Amino acid sequence: MNFKTIIEPFRIKSVEAVKFTTREERQERLAEAGYNVFLLHGEDVLIDLLTDSGTGAMSAAQWGALMQGDETYAGSKSFYKFRDVIQDLTGFKHIIPTHQGRAAERILFHTMLKASDIVPNNTHFDTTRANIEVEEAEAHDLVIEEGKIPSLVHPFKGNMDTAKLEALLATKGDRVPLVMVTVTNNSGGGQPVSLANLRAVRDICHKYGKPLFLDACRFAENAYFIKLREDGQAERTPKEIAQEMFRLADGCTMSAKKDGLANIGGFLALNDDTEASKARNLLILTEGFPTYGGLAGYDLEAIAQGLVEVVEEPYLRYRIRSVEYMGEKLTAAGVPIIRPTGGHAVYVDARAALSHIPPLEFPGVAFLNQLYIEAGVRAVEIGSLMFGLHPDGTESPSAMDLVRLAIPRRVYTQSHIDYVAEAILEVFRKRETLKGYRVVDSPKVLRHFTARLEPLP
Ligand code: F0G
Repeated sequence: MNFKTIIEPFRIKSVEAVKFTTREERQERLAEAGYNVFLLHGEDVLIDLLTDSGTGAMSAAQWGALMQGDETYAGSKSFYKFRDVIQDLTGFKHIIPTHQGRAAERILFHTMLKASDIVPNNTHFDTTRANIEVEEAEAHDLVIEEGKIPSLVHPFKGNMDTAKLEALLATKGDRVPLVMVTVTNNSGGGQPVSLANLRAVRDICHKYGKPLFLDACRFAENAYFIKLREDGQAERTPKEIAQEMFRLADGCTMSAKKDGLANIGGFLALNDDTEASKARNLLILTEGFPTYGGLAGYDLEAIAQGLVEVVEEPYLRYRIRSVEYMGEKLTAAGVPIIRPTGGHAVYVDARAALSHIPPLEFPGVAFLNQLYIEAGVRAVEIGSLMFGLHPDGTESPSAMDLVRLAIPRRVYTQSHIDYVAEAILEVFRKRETLKGYRVVDSPKVLRHFTARLEPLP
């Protein structure tokens, strides 16, 4: 039997009610929140597509594993289970738990970077970039040109531009202590990186003697895209592909809140003994003892089980298909989105949809605020509010102005997705009436989280 309909590969054992609000209530809530959806109360959101991070539903097996949590401070049984699952997957020698991905980034960058160093990546995510810049180092984005054109269809839009990487290492290699590749490339649309590209990057890193680190948050989605799209990979399991991806690198940072299928947690993994020892010392200072790293024993259990479930093919098939399904509905109605759809989210090209709003008046914010008012759906801006303010205080438009609709794992059903698509079409229909925003109050770093804005007249 080979039916066309791809169903959710689970049934539902426990449900959580969502709250309906009126349009007037949403208008009020949004004004109170300074027109920044990060400042809304979650309960005032009907369908929350702010992030796929830590928002997934755990399986019965994960909830069961929680009861196996060993809360021993040092040498907990749960740590060894966690370590063994990650070593089997990644092959890395040192597995260092952290409370989430950015803690792993902070430890890696604080131990490996000095001022004026450069870290190349396909595209740095916001916290990754900020954790580099706080060390007074530079974060360079070297994604292929195809990856910057939303409407252009290419199977691996997350690939690193290897010519640019080589040029950087040839001219400024002394300032580059490590190379990163983000799988999938979140800021560029959740787009995958091919094995061929990872191999080429690895070869360049070897040539210049640089360690390669994966930002592995969505490694399983990346592996599944490789299976679907890369020559010669169709017969392999997603786990085998993921194992090869990790073995091309020297280490990784990971947020288990994404492809760990857990609500909290992360890790730093690496092969180098000296760097691992420096990382563990800093871990003790800020996160906790190396066998728990800021997590409870039960969190380690949930992650160990999540990492087993996330590479299962029925799960990945449904995951990638449900994102694609939403993308198809939007594309059919003419809404500009990043194509093809990525692994964890649909990205509306707000700069194209709202071409009458200049980037520094934040078309992404205009689009997603209207989406909240229309339908109670919360998305996130990945654009000039997030990336437009530089450490020297100047502002410039980011590469793209996107509205990301991130799909939490195993949480929403197809009818929720249909509702979201209908709501987006309604915003798109009214696009010419939408106005831009200006920032009235904001911090200097990572301003998008807490900035307050006001609509322009
Ligand atoms: N790297 C990437 C590619 C990410 O997408 C994130 C988080 C992190 C690192 C940091 O991990 O949140 O566990 O500290 N991205 C979330 C998002 C927040 O909404 O895309 P974290």
